Amino acid sequence: MTTRHATHTDDTDAAPPDPERRLAVVTGASRGLGRALAGALGRAGWDLVLDARTEGDLLATVDEVRRSGSTGTVRAVVGDVTDADHRRWLAETAAEIGPVALLVNNASTLGPSPLPRLVDLAPGELAELLEVNTVAPLAMFQALAPHLAPDATVVNVTSDASVGAWEGWGGYGLSKAALDHLSAVLAVEHPDLAVHAIDPGDLRTAMHQAAYPGEDISDRPLPEAVVDDLVALVEARPPSGRHRLADWAATHEPSPGEAPTDGREVAA
Ligand SMILES: NC(=O)c1ccc[n+]([C@@H]2O[C@H](COP(=O)([O-])OP(=O)(O)OC[C@H]3O[C@@H](n4cnc5c(N)ncnc54)[C@H](OP(=O)(O)O)[C@@H]3O)[C@@H](O)[C@H]2O)c1
Repeated sequence: MTTRHATHTDDTDAAPPDPERRLAVVTGASRGLGRALAGALGRAGWDLVLDARTEGDLLATVDEVRRSGSTGTVRAVVGDVTDADHRRWLAETAAEIGPVALLVNNASTLGPSPLPRLVDLAPGELAELLEVNTVAPLAMFQALAPHLAPDATVVNVTSDASVGAWEGWGGYGLSKAALDHLSAVLAVEHPDLAVHAIDPGDLRTAMHQAAYPGEDISDRPLPEAVVDDLVALVEARPPSGRHRLADWAATHEPSPGEAPTDGREVAA
C-alpha cells in the first residue's frame, strides 16, 4: 500500500486562535458526504482537519470550504485511515490546533461492486471492509482520544444496511453493524462524550452509484441536502445513540432565522 503523509495548511488568513472556536476532524472529506459536511461545518464556524487518500480532491474540498466563507483553520492530511502512521499524523495535526470537539468517522468502503452475495464475498474482501469501516474508526478514536475535548462528540457514519438484511449488502452491512455496536460500547465506556452512530440515508454519491451500477440514482438527495441537519444534530448534542438523520431532523424544529435547506417550514 502506498502511503502519503502530506499535510496542506490553508489558514494563512485565518482569524487568530479563539478559545471559543471548535475543532472537527472529518475523515473521507474528498467527495460525497464528507466533502459536503466539511463545507457545512466550515460555514457553521468550525475549524477543520480533513483526510482522504486522493490529494487533488481533498485540496478541492479545502478550497470549497474557504470559498463558502469559513474564516477558520482548515487543514488537509492526505492518507489512508487504515494506516497507523497516517492516523498519528492526523492526531498530531489536530493537537496543534486545539482540543478536538468533534470526530466524524465518515471514510468508508462499499466493497466489491456489483455487490456480491455472501457466498461470493472473498475473505480478503470482507477483511478489507472490516479494516476500513470498523477497525479504522476505532483506531482513529484511539489516536485522537488524548486530544479530545472532555465533552467531545464522536460521529460514526453508519447505514441502514447495518440493521437490514438484503441480498448483496452482507459484507458492508456487517461492517456497519459492528460499527454500531462499537459506538454503543464507546458511549457506555465514555459517558462524558456523545457517541453517535448516524445513518445519513440514501445519498447521491459515488458509493451509492457503485451499489447500483448503471442505475439512475438521480432521485436520491445530494449530500448537501442533509449536512445542515447533521451539524444541527451535533450542535444539539442529544444523548449518545444510533440515529437515522431523517428521523432526527423531522423532530427537530429549526429555530427562527435558521434557514432550512430542504423546504421544511421554519417554526414560528
Ligand atoms: N451514499 C449513501 O447512500 C450512504 C448511505 C448510508 C451511509 N453512507 C455512509 O456515508 C459515508 C460517506 O459515504 P459517501 O456516499 O459519501 O461515500 P463516497 O462518495 O464513496 O466517499 C467516501 C469518502 O471516503 C474516503 N475514503 C474511502 N476509503 C478511505 C480510506 N481508506 N482512507 C481515507 N479515506 C477514505 C474517500 O476518499 P478517497 O477515495 O480520496 O480516499 C471519500 O472521500 C460512509 O460512511 C457511508 O458508508 C452512505
